[in-house]
Amino acid sequence: MASVKLTINNQAHTLDVDPEMPLLWAIRDVVGLTGTKFGCGIAQCGACTVHLDGNPTRSCSIPVSAVVGQKITTIEGISKNADHPVQKAWVEHQVPQCGYCQSGQIMSAVALLKQTPKPTDADIDTAMQGNICRCGTYNRIRQAIHTASAEMGSSPKMPKSNPKIGKR
Ligand code: FES
Ligand code: FES
Repeated sequence: MASVKLTINNQAHTLDVDPEMPLLWAIRDVVGLTGTKFGCGIAQCGACTVHLDGNPTRSCSIPVSAVVGQKITTIEGISKNADHPVQKAWVEHQVPQCGYCQSGQIMSAVALLKQTPKPTDADIDTAMQGNICRCGTYNRIRQAIHTASAEMGSSPKMPKSNPKIGKR
């Protein structure tokens, strides 16, 4: 056992755990954030996807000792009221069936849109290919990502300051 300091959803946690414990176990069983799911345990299904410094990562297959100092974000941390544009698009398109894979799908989609704000279908298929859905929701996932992309692109931007204002 060791004292491991993690930053999860902008909160500092000190965990008394085996440094080799998979991050997924720490997130779910020690910290109590159960939105991230266990599917395969061998980095093959994507159900356990979280962000490490913004990059989608399989939390089942990385030990806590390897993520010290990184910013860990789980599904609970992407919005305050489950109102991230991706989450809203998921509801609008009624994406989930059993729902088990969906927090991992959403985490991959959020990371994709951060890197590629206007993804093509091919971009989406490439970015999402590691997230398996036994219920076959892939078409609706694709539609929801396009909807979220449009929504995020249309969000009001801060007006540019007028360079003349304040100048003599
Ligand atoms: S549970 Fe981690 S990839 Fe399947
Ligand atoms: S919604 Fe059931 S596994 Fe994806």
